[in-house]
Amino acid sequence: MNNTTPTIPVIAIDGPSASGKGSVAELVAEQLGFHYLDSGAIYRIVAYASQLQHIVWSDAEAIAKLTTQLNIEFSHGNIMLNGSNITAEVRSEEMGRGASEVAVHPTVRDALLDLQKQFRQSPGLVGDGRDMASVVFPDAALKIFLTADVEIRAQRRYQQLHNRGADAKYETILQDLQVRDLRDSQRSAAPLKQMPDALLLDTSDRSIQQAVDFVLDAYQKSLHSYKKI
Ligand code: DC
Repeated sequence: MNNTTPTIPVIAIDGPSASGKGSVAELVAEQLGFHYLDSGAIYRIVAYASQLQHIVWSDAEAIAKLTTQLNIEFSHGNIMLNGSNITAEVRSEEMGRGASEVAVHPTVRDALLDLQKQFRQSPGLVGDGRDMASVVFPDAALKIFLTADVEIRAQRRYQQLHNRGADAKYETILQDLQVRDLRDSQRSAAPLKQMPDALLLDTSDRSIQQAVDFVLDAYQKSLHSYKKI
């Protein structure tokens, strides 16, 4: 069976860092019994693996080559690289920055395309990232652009890190997010942007549950309009 067959529905959720798209995407996938692709984690793994191999994040050619040698596995909420659990390392702020840096290279993005498409498995997939709707799954059944004001995102990230016992400063987080937003949306390869056929979901004044309900409702509506055709 061809796992990339377009008949398997995809919900594409794109948006900036710390918008809550990961939590929303995971819960939507759980509710629908769909698979879940955290594409940001893949870029984070690549940044981490490059660092391990002493490859600088600006070296597009060496990183693209390295991606072909990585054995990546997502297992029960853990991120595995070549058999080692690297979840904590990959979730660090440093690897968030690294991911954003390696992600500017078109050759690296191309090298990761097939891997991401393989997540499209029956009965469906919820993919979260920056280019789910524009590049990886342009035929997605539903496209959501999920965002929130940068100050609110910084506050949420600050709270998250604080709860984990990490020593984080709000101003540093805000600045990091602004730099990342700019890099992710200004790059030439697959920049972060709302597609014309994507629904805007601003979570500045919404809870995670309200955002999940919005996506589920939009998905049900998309199924109805599909049936009427
Ligand atoms: O979603 P995240 O914060 O884990 O993503 C980390 C970085 O990876 C993000 O700043 C840009 C990059 N990324 C990307 O370019 N394309 C994706 N589909 C997902 C992430």
